Amino acid sequence: MKRNILITGGAGFIGSHVVRLFVNKYPDYHIVNLDKLTYAGNLANLKEIEDRPNYTFVRADIVDFEVMRRIMDEHEIDGIIHLAAESHVDRSIKDPFTFARTNVMGTLSLLQAAKEYWETLPEKYEGKRFYHISTDEVYGALELTNPKGIESPFTTAASSEHHHAYGTVFFLETTKYNPHSPYSASKASSDHFVRAYHDTYGMPTIVTNCSNNYGPYQFPEKLIPLFINNIRHRKPLPVYGKGENVRDWLYVEDHARAIDLIFHKGIIAETYNIGGFNEWKNIDIIKVIIKTVDRLLGNPEGYSDELITYVTDRLGHDMRYAIDSRKLQRELGWEPSLQFEEGIERTVRWYLDHQDWMDNITSGDYERYYEDMYKNR
Ligand code: NAD
Ligand code: TYD
Repeated sequence: MKRNILITGGAGFIGSHVVRLFVNKYPDYHIVNLDKLTYAGNLANLKEIEDRPNYTFVRADIVDFEVMRRIMDEHEIDGIIHLAAESHVDRSIKDPFTFARTNVMGTLSLLQAAKEYWETLPEKYEGKRFYHISTDEVYGALELTNPKGIESPFTTAASSEHHHAYGTVFFLETTKYNPHSPYSASKASSDHFVRAYHDTYGMPTIVTNCSNNYGPYQFPEKLIPLFINNIRHRKPLPVYGKGENVRDWLYVEDHARAIDLIFHKGIIAETYNIGGFNEWKNIDIIKVIIKTVDRLLGNPEGYSDELITYVTDRLGHDMRYAIDSRKLQRELGWEPSLQFEEGIERTVRWYLDHQDWMDNITSGDYERYYEDMYKNR
């Protein structure tokens, strides 16, 4: 079937994996990637598919309603996968306005543009989809308790060595929203607007909330690529607080596969949580990264341990995130494809093999912004 799909934020980390997957897998679809190209957007992430006949890139700001409205018409968009956002918690602590602008007003502008365009068509919302990509951070923070959680239901175990569950409570689709950071508050607000457009106007929306992603093309302000790059340059590895916070990590291509499945098979107005039952304390995952980078660089074991530097904790640092994704498994048959050990090995190798990609974005303005951020924290 011919479809015209607008993917926002397609030049970013997760968006670039989703665009690549859709362009390769669906030659009959026209994929329009709309991205403002902020510091986090990088067209080098999409070199492999940029000349394909079923792909168009548009540089635009989602907050600009008139432009969103025109693009809906011009490309006769019938499906939207909305990933464009400001995504880094530390930046949101320094500059919450930008997060409210893009994540809240940008999502609202896209919703309204889709509504107005789809309402001009004879079939209206029939066959349409507005799929909003969100985060588990909207649910707030969980406690660390006796590590006896739900056993992973997946045939691909999250991790062959460790199956960590640092508590008995997990985020469900029904968990009450309780965001703490300006980032998660702005994402929560955008999720509410998306659901309001379904409840008020009948817009065919879907929301998914995913755990922390890792893999190739992630901007090196986030834990895993930042640490890989710092180890390579023998720079300090800034561990916030005591390194005891827990995150639930999913390989980015498994998130992209889930997005594909939910876009096509998900039920309108539903929410699906996405995660791999793969919880790690920061300090433990940091040790795995150090060990893997040292091994791949031919350094003796323990060589880079001395780079670990405990620094002042992040303000309002959420202790634990943990997703229960059994609804997605049960209803749509999704499972992660990779064990964590394989995912992290692939990820470290990718960053070490793509040093040009890393060097390009860690020079100049970005480097100055980044240093400034740490100086003032
Ligand atoms: P990212 O920061 O790597 O990419 C965001 C992209 O959005 C960039 O290409 C940027 O240029 C673009 N963008 C930003 N503001 C824009 C605007 N005003 N108009 C148009 N484009 C704009 O983010 P990511 O990590 O790929 O996250 C993508 C989405 O997934 C976000 O909505 C995020 O909240 C969500 N999410 C991320 C994670 C994660 O671990 N990274 C986990 C769950 C959910
Ligand atoms: P991050 O990659 O920023 O994702 P999020 O805050 O959305 O979970 O951080 C992952 C975890 O690592 C989080 O608990 C904060 C911590 N962290 C550090 O300890 N040092 C760092 O330099 C960064 C960027 C993160």
